[in-house]
Amino acid sequence: MSIRAVIFDLDGVIVSTDEYHFHAWKMIADREGIPFDRTTNEALRGVSRMESLEIILRKATRAYSPGEKKELAEQKNNFYRESLNDLTPGEILPGVLDVLASLKARGIKVAIGSSSRNAKAILSKIGLDKSFDEIVDGTDISRSKPDPEVFSLGAERLGISPEECLVVEDAEAGIDAALAAGMRALGVGSAAQYPKSHYAYPDLEATPLDEILNREATTD
Ligand code: BG6
Ligand code: MG
Repeated sequence: MSIRAVIFDLDGVIVSTDEYHFHAWKMIADREGIPFDRTTNEALRGVSRMESLEIILRKATRAYSPGEKKELAEQKNNFYRESLNDLTPGEILPGVLDVLASLKARGIKVAIGSSSRNAKAILSKIGLDKSFDEIVDGTDISRSKPDPEVFSLGAERLGISPEECLVVEDAEAGIDAALAAGMRALGVGSAAQYPKSHYAYPDLEATPLDEILNREATTD
C-alpha cells in the first residue's frame, strides 16, 4: 500500500532534545540521590513527563507524595525549558531537512506525533513550526506511547488511513504505538535496534527513503 503520510516523532528524531531531557532528569535524580543512567533513560523515550518520573522513582529509597511528584516534574520541566533557550536549527538531526523536502516533492503529507507538551515551542526554536501539515503533541492526548492515540489522531487529522502512514520513531514505545495504530514503522537512533520496526537505520541521513516508499507501493 502506498505511503501517503509520514508522521515523525520529535525528540530524538527531528532534533536532539532527547539529550536535553536526559540531562534535566539526571539533575533531578542526582539531587534526590536516585540512581539514574542512560540505560534507565531508554525507558523514558516517548513516555510522558509524569510517567517518566514514575519510572525514575522506582529506584528511589523512599515514597514521594503526589505533591512532591508534581513539584519534581515541574522542576525538571523548568530546567529543561531553560536548556531549550540554547536550541538552534543546528540541533536538527542529520537528514531531516532533506527528507522533509523530498516528501513534499512527492506530495506526501508530513506530521508530528509527539508526547511532548513542549513540541510547538521546540519547533519554533528550530524554525520548523510551519513545516508540517499537522502537529499532534502531548497537549492533545490523554494516553502516551505505547498507546496509539497520538498517531491515530495524526492520521485522522490528515484524513489518511493508518495503513497509508509511516511513523518515524527513536523510541521502542513509539514503534509499539505505531504498530498498535496499524501503521508502518521506521526506527532510527535507539529504535534502530528494535526488532519490531519494519525498517531500521541509524538516522534519517542513512535511510534510503525512496527505496522504502517504492517498496511500500508495491506491497499489498
Ligand atoms: C517525548 C520524550 O517526546 O516527550 C520523553 O521522548 C518526554 O522523554 C516526553 O518525557 C514528554 O515531554 P515534555 O516536553 O512534555 O516533558
Ligand atoms: Mg523520541
